[in-house]
Amino acid sequence: MRLTVIGTGYLGATHAACMAELGHEVIGVDVDADKIAALGAGRVPFHEPGLGELLRRHLDSGRLRFTTSYEEAGAFGEVHFVCVGTPQSRRSDAADLRYVDAAFAAIARHAEPGALLVGKSTVPVGTARRLADAHPVDVAWNPEFLREGFAVQDTLRPDRLVFGVESARAEELLREVYAPVLGAGTPLVTADFPTAELVKTAANAFLATKISFINAMAEVCEVAGGDVSVLAEAIGHDDRIGPKFLRAGVGFGGGCLPKDIRAFAHRAEELGAPLAFLREVDAINMRRRERVVELARELCGGPGRSVMGARIAVLGAAFKPDSDDIRDSPALNVAARLQLDGADVTVYDPEAMDNARKAFPLLGYALSAREALHRADVVLHLTEWAEFRALDPAQVRHWVSRPRIVDGRGALDPAAWAASGWDFRGLGRPPGGEGKR
Ligand code: UDX
Repeated sequence: MRLTVIGTGYLGATHAACMAELGHEVIGVDVDADKIAALGAGRVPFHEPGLGELLRRHLDSGRLRFTTSYEEAGAFGEVHFVCVGTPQSRRSDAADLRYVDAAFAAIARHAEPGALLVGKSTVPVGTARRLADAHPVDVAWNPEFLREGFAVQDTLRPDRLVFGVESARAEELLREVYAPVLGAGTPLVTADFPTAELVKTAANAFLATKISFINAMAEVCEVAGGDVSVLAEAIGHDDRIGPKFLRAGVGFGGGCLPKDIRAFAHRAEELGAPLAFLREVDAINMRRRERVVELARELCGGPGRSVMGARIAVLGAAFKPDSDDIRDSPALNVAARLQLDGADVTVYDPEAMDNARKAFPLLGYALSAREALHRADVVLHLTEWAEFRALDPAQVRHWVSRPRIVDGRGALDPAAWAASGWDFRGLGRPPGGEGKR
């Protein structure tokens, strides 16, 4: 089929390359000429494993190209996927729909009669109906559940497909687009517009709630003397609960979960069905960042527990490992807070340094973990890259000025670090990790 993908960020660039991989002819469209030039030259402007190879394979096969022209896209496509961002609005928790609205208006203006416009962006419930009413084109909603770092596999082999459709023809076209994925046995759920939109926001709300649940348990463990990692392991054996998304730590960040739960809560309030618990999920998440700052203060231990002048090494800048995405990153949030309090903060991340430097130019940066740790008074482990998990506490001890570490990701072995003489603090774990017997 001839498809276009409008918006070539994480979602759109991945979707475009994956649709070419499925055998379609694809044009990727973006208003950002630099991004289009990079993608057209085979360069992915962000870190996503496997995407570069897929992109170059299909630029070479001739099935994939990029343009800034809606006119060209409109004349070409039978199905147009809208994958533009829905960031948090500057004035409230609502999603800012200006990019979705502009993309729909532009492609609707140029689309051939009979073309299908498919929204993939995460939007407040009611958006698909509004857009379908505003434009004389066929509309469908097909939410995306991809995780950064696994974007290619999540697109080619998703857990499920969701089609929000109002006509048999829209469903037929989407079935044709995804024929190889459906042929591999992927479950398909067809729904009306509001349900399809809600599936996405509900899934993200559930994931965020699961993380905040375990982080709330970490808060209780901290005052009760328990160990949240042992607790998570034990409740995770119950297959109604399951072990995933129960890693306590400095909490969730990124370009999706934080803004999506806020937009969902905001929309639900607008509709008169408030989801007050999502406000608490958000609050628990933000409190965990606060807790790491507090632990750093405690470890610095100076007069009034001030971090003024202390050398603090921050391991990690990305919001999660295997990503260079620093949007709403807990690591950088904590680093910036401590720097404002007068600490001398040095950050190292294997992939996210350029993005971190652009967003937080005043923080200190090192070119390796070793350089960041050099003469540090306190080490904060805030993104669980494999490289950091592999650090040898006995060796690392020689790099720092004082062996004091906060594991903000529950990914280091407290006993091993304590055995090498470190003052080890975890979130929701007793110092030195006495919880596991
Ligand atoms: C998420 C959803 O998983 C995905 O389905 C949706 O489409 C977009 O949002 P992503 O933002 O890529 O994907 O990240 P994810 O892997 O879900 O992690 C989100 C955040 O939660 C990260 O900051 C991660 O460190 C944190 N997290 C995750 C925890 O703190 N504990 C956990 O147990 C799991």
